[in-house]
Amino acid sequence: MNKQHLLSINLTRWLYALSLPGIFIILVCGLFQVGEPAGFSAIMGMVLLTATLLPAACARLGWWTGNDILRYLLRHQKHLGITSGLWFVAHGMASGLFFFDRTQPWWPQFTVEALHPVWLLMPVMVLMLITSINAVQRRLGSSWKDIHALVWLLLIPMMLHGNLAIAFFEKEDFAPATFFVVTLVGVALYEAVRLRSFRRIRWVVLSIVLISIYYAMMG
Ligand code: HEM
Repeated sequence: MNKQHLLSINLTRWLYALSLPGIFIILVCGLFQVGEPAGFSAIMGMVLLTATLLPAACARLGWWTGNDILRYLLRHQKHLGITSGLWFVAHGMASGLFFFDRTQPWWPQFTVEALHPVWLLMPVMVLMLITSINAVQRRLGSSWKDIHALVWLLLIPMMLHGNLAIAFFEKEDFAPATFFVVTLVGVALYEAVRLRSFRRIRWVVLSIVLISIYYAMMG
């Protein structure tokens, strides 16, 4: 299969055709506590999120603007974002089903430190998914874009949660999602310096400030 043929494939259709059964399978794995639904679903969400945000950042910076793959990803940006959100929400549900002890009350298990960032991640992810629906976007006008800019607020909490959760639940010491987050934040920082555009980095800075205040208050 050559490059032109690959780029003629309708990515949106394939994203849903692979993601929806994939999500169903990881939820079933979570329910029956088999396999590794947490890591796989989180990485799927992270890869798709990077494919949503990175090409747009490259386009703004004027990098590889003539590149076919970049333009292809940009054309499918909306559905890359939606499927990323679906994988993350499914990740939360599958991980809870997989790791929580069902003989114990679930609320104390949901309040362990590794899951504190999830209290922010989950509602904002769900909000972004709801505001991805065309009818909702029509009602909101252009303000849906402000809601979606919140994704930049989530990156550092995702990295924090990923590393805390992998240590707490899996007894491993490094979440690969860190690489993706560092890349995205690095590009947002470069964009701020180069283009004097602070739209994205300000959310990243705000997330760091909020996390610092939160930990300072917790002692
Ligand atoms: C929308 C909410 C959530 C988001 C956006 C999210 C995001 C992430 C990310 C980015 C990682 C790092 C993956 C990696 O690098 O390997 C991760 C890992 C993890 N998360 Fe979540 N998470 C969410 C909810 C939850 C919930 C509710 C649980 C409940 C137990 C959970 C449990 C875990 C575990 C155990 C890992 C480590 C998995 C592994 O890599 O093996 N997450 N999460």
